[in-house]
Amino acid sequence: MNVSIIGTGYVGLTTGACLAFLGHKVTCVDADENKVKALQAGEIPFYEPYLADLVSGASNNLKFTLDYAAAIPQSQVVFIAVGTPPGANGAPDLRYLEAAARGIGEHLSNEFTVVVNKSTVPIGSGNWVGALVRDAYEKRSGGKSNGAFAVASNPEFLREGSAIFDSLYPDRIVVGCAEARTAEVLYSLYRPLVDQDFQAPAFLARPEGLGAVPLIATDLASAELVKYAANAFLALKISYINEIGALAGKVGADIGQVAKGIGLDARIGTRFLQAGIGWGGSCFGKDTSALVATAAEYGLDAQIVKAARDVNQRQRERVVEKLLGELKILKGRTIGLLGLAFKPNTDDLREAPAIDIAKKLIERGARVKAHDPVAAERFKKENPSIEVTVCPTPEGVFRDSDAVVLVTEWPEYRELDWDGLRPTMRSAIVLDGRNLLDRAAMEKAGYRFLALAS
Ligand code: UDX
Repeated sequence: MNVSIIGTGYVGLTTGACLAFLGHKVTCVDADENKVKALQAGEIPFYEPYLADLVSGASNNLKFTLDYAAAIPQSQVVFIAVGTPPGANGAPDLRYLEAAARGIGEHLSNEFTVVVNKSTVPIGSGNWVGALVRDAYEKRSGGKSNGAFAVASNPEFLREGSAIFDSLYPDRIVVGCAEARTAEVLYSLYRPLVDQDFQAPAFLARPEGLGAVPLIATDLASAELVKYAANAFLALKISYINEIGALAGKVGADIGQVAKGIGLDARIGTRFLQAGIGWGGSCFGKDTSALVATAAEYGLDAQIVKAARDVNQRQRERVVEKLLGELKILKGRTIGLLGLAFKPNTDDLREAPAIDIAKKLIERGARVKAHDPVAAERFKKENPSIEVTVCPTPEGVFRDSDAVVLVTEWPEYRELDWDGLRPTMRSAIVLDGRNLLDRAAMEKAGYRFLALAS
């Protein structure tokens, strides 16, 4: 099929590359000239494992352009995958979505086209996008748009750092639309994923035992709510284990063992019970806040989601409190942070706990040093006003520090020469914010070892 994707961020570019890999003819449209030029030259604008391999492997089926006219008229399916960054009052900023919808309407052909919203948008946006596309189409053509297009919602569930895996081997595909013929177009598009009959890429094998992937067809509003409800539930699961973690620390229980013990109950599940500093990233904060805002518009108080957000914020405070409890005075101290990205395997720093923690420490008069294997340069570029000394190696973070906090669980931090690093510190205090390190081994190496759940 001929497919267009508007927006070449994490979602758009990953979706485009995967559909091209599956054999569709994909044109990605972006308004940023530099980004389009870079993509045409085979450069990927952010760090995502295997994305470059997929883009280069599928290059015969994948084009990049600034021009809607070069993409939309010949497409049977047009995805909107533009950013919906947080705006005022917790509601997302929809200006890119609006521009995309108008641009699509201005260039639609008379052939039936499915306009798919993949951006995470407030519930009801499908109807709004439909109205914008229709207005732009009718203004341009002077005729009615009946039958020219239909709008669908197809939320994405991909995690940064595992975006290709999640896109090729999803747990489910959700498609929301009003008419059966729209769902049928999307079913044809996704058939290789549903049947899992494509040849897996050499670098990313299909998980053993993965059979057909369920495709769930719903109405528009349900698909839009699925996205928010899924992310809010995952966010709440993390906050729940962090709340239990705080209690585990008080009663002397081991939160890792507790998480395993409850997670093996199949009704609960073992995933997303990793206690620590809490969630960051572009989705959970934004989506939980949008869900609370939407509920409020309808006179509802989304108390559970609000509580999950409060617990998450509290975890960042607890890092500072733990250090204060140990060092008593933070003024003039040097604190090292291991990890800046909001999680491993990405250079994304949106809502990264490290940024919040660095700011809180600086406010209290501490000096902050930090290291990250991939996000360091991006951090410097995006946060020039935060006075953090970025170290090119983890060793720099330890040198003359009064404490080191492990903020992002990059696996290489587990392999550091902890014995050798201890004498380079002013005081050998380590706060493991992600439960990555082994307490007994760290204590044996001579560290005063702190964790949030202790
Ligand atoms: C998330 C959703 O998982 C994905 O389905 C959605 O479409 C987009 O948002 P992402 O933000 O890329 O994906 O990362 P994810 O792996 O979900 O982690 C989110 C945050 O939660 C990270 O900061 C991570 O460190 C934290 N986390 C995750 C925990 O603290 N504990 C856990 O057990 C799991």
